[in-house]
Amino acid sequence: MFRMYDLIEKKKNGEELTKEEIEFIVQGYTDGSIYDYQMSAFLMAVYFNGMTKQETFELTMAMEASGDTLDLSEIKGVKVDKHSTGGVGDKTTLVLAPMIAALDVPVAKMSGRGLGHTGGTIDKLEAFPGFLTSLPEETFIQNVNEHKIAVAGQTKNLAPADKKIYALRDATACVNSIPLIASSIMSKKLASGADGICLDVKVGSGAFMKNEADAQCLAKTMVDIGTFANKKVVAVLTNMDEPLGNAVGNTLEVMEAIDSLKGNGPKDLMEVVFALGSQMLLMAGRASSEEEANKLLQSTIDSGAAYDKFKEFVKIQGGNPEDVDHMESLLSAKVVSDVVALKDGYVAKIEAEQIGHASMIMGGGRASKEDDIDLSVGIILRKKVGDFVKANEPIATVYANDSSLCEKAKEEILDSYQFSDTKTQGKPMVIKTIK
Ligand code: URA
Repeated sequence: MFRMYDLIEKKKNGEELTKEEIEFIVQGYTDGSIYDYQMSAFLMAVYFNGMTKQETFELTMAMEASGDTLDLSEIKGVKVDKHSTGGVGDKTTLVLAPMIAALDVPVAKMSGRGLGHTGGTIDKLEAFPGFLTSLPEETFIQNVNEHKIAVAGQTKNLAPADKKIYALRDATACVNSIPLIASSIMSKKLASGADGICLDVKVGSGAFMKNEADAQCLAKTMVDIGTFANKKVVAVLTNMDEPLGNAVGNTLEVMEAIDSLKGNGPKDLMEVVFALGSQMLLMAGRASSEEEANKLLQSTIDSGAAYDKFKEFVKIQGGNPEDVDHMESLLSAKVVSDVVALKDGYVAKIEAEQIGHASMIMGGGRASKEDDIDLSVGIILRKKVGDFVKANEPIATVYANDSSLCEKAKEEILDSYQFSDTKTQGKPMVIKTIK
């Protein structure tokens, strides 16, 4: 039997913990026999001293083992999942999942809700009246077998240790630790049962990882955990310096995703969709080169197959597929108002986090987990980095349900834009792929 005091001391001194010691900590904290004050001290020691690869793997496996796991073995074929570390305007899953499913590769995806300035796929899907984001396990499996697609919120108790540890990290300034983030994400992904996992690791001002070196380290740590656990894991580092695409806010993002499936997607969003999609097709053995994968992905847009698959997906999860054709009718924001540029210039930077925050304060996101959200509010960015704008020209349009919140959001949006006299070259969207 171990003593938590000794294990905190060991980590404080920078020594490596064993599998049994890590299991003791995770089990003890989950069942309440280890108290918050000791766990907080332990997490802070990890924050400062880090963890070895082996320790990070053992922590992941112990958190995965703390709850239920999904058994997807009844689904035929290589099941692929994708996960984003979180960004602003990130509607990639809504575009990518039907494209992959249209190529007969099973997509079995557990998604989350948004918190703070970042959005979540499950909230966005609720823009369709009647859409069921919570599916019984049998229905989830049946939908993937018959239609190749299911995207749902977590129903089983996956990785409860992570839920408890994450809440404590959040309250004790210990979120930003690479072994803690990697084990948190991977414990849930491994418990979700897919054979292949494609990770979209966001880098930039709107992301957890503000610089490329940290993002690369996080990506490599997660890929290594996958290798230890015998899963195919690929991480793609993508840019999150400005919001992805033009729409931010739930219904608005669904509208942009639908437009993208019709072939009118914004360039930055589609670059990310293709980069992740090609890795998913390679993982599933559906393509043997990135070039072939990209052609296949493009064919799902050109033929309308991905659009039709999206309608089928909405239908089998309880929504009305006709809504996909007329999504704008679901946008019920009462106040629509433009943010205009004060002078001529090129857009040099848009602080993604501020844009996410502006949408959140109008009700588009949650400040805390219990908050309700307003699906119809949000922002359309009319100008992105590198675009020229004239004085009084709209740079963004705000959709709100409260005029004073609309004004606050407009101020924040204007503040998030930086201008320059010369054209700024945007950074590449896809920075690196790590396998
Ligand atoms: N997302 C997670 O699930 N966990 C983290 O620690 C950070 C982002």
